[in-house]
Amino acid sequence: MTAATPRTPVIAIDGPAASGKGTLARRIAATLGFDHMDSGALYRAVALTVLRNGTPPEDTAAAIAAARALDPARAAAMQSDPAIRSDTTGTAASVVSAVPEVRAALLDAQRNFAAHPPGGRGAVIDGRDIGTVISPDAVAKLFVTADPEIRARRRLGELQGQGVAAIFDDVLADMKERDRRDSQKAISPMVAAPDAFVLDTSRMSADEAFAAALSFVRRALDR
Ligand code: CDP
Repeated sequence: MTAATPRTPVIAIDGPAASGKGTLARRIAATLGFDHMDSGALYRAVALTVLRNGTPPEDTAAAIAAARALDPARAAAMQSDPAIRSDTTGTAASVVSAVPEVRAALLDAQRNFAAHPPGGRGAVIDGRDIGTVISPDAVAKLFVTADPEIRARRRLGELQGQGVAAIFDDVLADMKERDRRDSQKAISPMVAAPDAFVLDTSRMSADEAFAAALSFVRRALDR
């Protein structure tokens, strides 16, 4: 009888828009030599496909068809398109991601990555439901958050950095609307897993947040 291959560790990083979870996830993955997956990128790819076809994101059938047709190579290729990171695409992603069949169509890609990260050492996945639905047995779960005003301020800075004209009040209203939609989804709502470490970065620099997150993850990996 052959021994079962030991499972590689999964680090789940969830949290609301512009909480800094993506940056943290990338830095933690690079530090540990793990592979990183941005699960939001999959929902954004579905949303952008629907928008590019001239269909509104509320068209459930179009969203389901786009999700079922999305393969990992195509999703990866779409990430170099600047439109994937726009607020229009982000808002449309939060609409299509509320459709159960869209979530179901993207489940295997995420679970396969968690079980078989390409580098073979471990996976860091960020999103909204990684610690609750995709990898409930993740070795470390982080829920990264910050006050909506602070997240809106950070997002405004990012947009201005890209040369996009934006008004704080609009960015804040959009952020609150997305939080509301993400938290009230009938399936996979954005919620911290009961065993997640909640990291409120409202009064932390990016480096302080990274240090706190990494120390939590290292302790979890050592257990
Ligand atoms: O980068 P940002 O936090 O603004 O958004 P994102 O992580 O790229 O996700 C875009 C949208 O996809 C979110 O507002 C969620 O509605 C949805 N999403 C989800 O439902 N489940 C995930 N695991 C990741 C994203």
